[in-house]
Amino acid sequence: MSQHPIRIGVCYYPEHWPEERWDSDARMMAELGLDCARIAEFAWSKMEPREGHFDFGWLERAVETLGRHGIDVILGTPTATPPRWLTSAYPDVLQRDRRGAVRGAGSRRHYCASSERYREFGRRIVEEMGRRFGRDSRVIGWQIDNEFGAHDTVRCFCDACDAGFRNWLRTRYESLDALNDTWGTVFWSGTFTNWDQVETPKFMPADPQPGHSLDYRRFTSDAWRDFQGEQVQILRALSPGRWITHNDMGWFGELDYYRLAGDLDFISWDNYVTETTPQHVASSHDLMRGLKRKPFWVMEQQMGKINWWRYNPAFAPGEIRSRTWQDIARGADGVVYFRWRQVSFGSEQYHSAILRNDATPSRGYEEIRALIAEVRAVEDRLAGTTTEALAAILHSYDDRWALELDPQTRDLEGFKALQESYFAAHRALWERNVTADIVASDASLDGYRLVLAPQMVIATAAMAERLTAWVEGGGLLILGPRAGSKTPENTTGGVLPPGPLTALCGATVEEYDAPPPSEPFAVTFADGAAVPARTWRDVLGARGAEVLALYSGGTFDGLPAVTVHRVGTGIVVLCGTYGGHDLWSAILDRVAAEIAPASSAPANVEVVRRTGNGKTVEFVINHNRETVAYEGRTLAPLGVVVR
Ligand code: GAL
Repeated sequence: MSQHPIRIGVCYYPEHWPEERWDSDARMMAELGLDCARIAEFAWSKMEPREGHFDFGWLERAVETLGRHGIDVILGTPTATPPRWLTSAYPDVLQRDRRGAVRGAGSRRHYCASSERYREFGRRIVEEMGRRFGRDSRVIGWQIDNEFGAHDTVRCFCDACDAGFRNWLRTRYESLDALNDTWGTVFWSGTFTNWDQVETPKFMPADPQPGHSLDYRRFTSDAWRDFQGEQVQILRALSPGRWITHNDMGWFGELDYYRLAGDLDFISWDNYVTETTPQHVASSHDLMRGLKRKPFWVMEQQMGKINWWRYNPAFAPGEIRSRTWQDIARGADGVVYFRWRQVSFGSEQYHSAILRNDATPSRGYEEIRALIAEVRAVEDRLAGTTTEALAAILHSYDDRWALELDPQTRDLEGFKALQESYFAAHRALWERNVTADIVASDASLDGYRLVLAPQMVIATAAMAERLTAWVEGGGLLILGPRAGSKTPENTTGGVLPPGPLTALCGATVEEYDAPPPSEPFAVTFADGAAVPARTWRDVLGARGAEVLALYSGGTFDGLPAVTVHRVGTGIVVLCGTYGGHDLWSAILDRVAAEIAPASSAPANVEVVRRTGNGKTVEFVINHNRETVAYEGRTLAPLGVVVR
């Protein structure tokens, strides 16, 4: 087994190639410097060709071939792709959408996580794999399933989900009266008189009650957590000493990744850049690292063009290198490229790979070889380190769901809400080269000096208490619009926002609205600086806080937009509107200049450190396609310095 502190591998599909080819593949992987391969995650029909008939001979030979060349194996459990025999004999395992339409077989992820029948088949194949490979010295770890929720498959509305949802609600509310009260079902005469009437929120003419929708999202997320948990439990017993992970999808918002992270040894995620900027990718890393506040793996690192986005450009020369170093700088202890060889059949034929479809090396091959040599040269210094973060961004899936279910403006629909809140706050820090962990709203804040809470819609007294204690001890907290405006039940709860955060902020929200883009307004600071704002306006009433900025222009001209409150030795800022990273920056300049000063690096030059065990490794990554100068050095386009 390889002992590299930083693992570099590739996704490999032996089942796609003749067995005579495997040895050359493994030899070439080793020559390239790769040390591991993830395999088998879609190969259920090869492992169990007929119900109850298992064939692992081919997989044993594949593991043996890889192992012979020093390539360690990560095994994927294959439940993302149920075999045909299963779905045709037991069609009840298939998902149903909101309108009852069945999601058919032929691609992947079409099964329901709540289906007890599917779970049983899933447990059985995982047990068989665990029994055969759990103690195999060539197997270093496991990936459960593949990308839960990809292709819009988190939510299902089948009978099993209705039953599962009812059970989940009974545990949470105990009585139907409590459920009726909490959801406010008297609104529009929706009072339940019998548990059988309670269903997943299927197709309806108008919106379901917000409490119903939010609980349904929590339930679906928990169903996937339980699905994952069953497999984890089996493998813990059958595969001692091996790690278990799942490949998450960065900012994907339909599963509560914090809750799913609990069962895993570490997080891994699939890094595909589509049209996103280097800052967006950095923020995904910061979120993935923040799920467990520890290093993670990139289980699928794009190494060239993909096949599934609106446009699918090639990587520029040097881009595999700069992106891989960004992975490592931001906390990856393992990077696994997707995929080894371009396939000449199936639905991903246009997807690039390390080898082209004729098995000759692609342009990326030599780049990866050179990069691996560089990684090997510094990896001992990286052992036991993690990315240093003095700031945190608080993030919660409940907040995202509450806002998504009731955006109140089309300018916060879907991805736009992320851009307005989390990405904007993160960008203000990125431009200063201040690294933040993106952590759960109820995470410990030990070790952080600056905390941004761009979208803390739901707040509780317990959260307020914890934040207050942290601020009193010298913390600097900045809250964004709509803070504390909802209860965990997704109601406004009969108190003015920021609800439980009122004493901490020393301010209330007296009025709010969601103006259209045709009504321009700005946030103006005492020194006259004005930052254009948009989308939402909380009009603040200072109750102990000082006013830091006013609205200028529009309906609320002259009224407070941003307040600052001193609490103990710390500071709390409440900002009632969205002004992108510029507004976050203007606030940071005024209240956090010492902790987060402006960076001396040129734009899109990322400076990050990994520290630990008394070691510090600094990474300087030029994401620009031009040469830039920084600290007396010349950085080539996409150039990286590790020091
Ligand atoms: C990922 C998925 C892989 C492959 C890849 C193509 O999302 O996990 O199986 O489909 O995309 O880019």
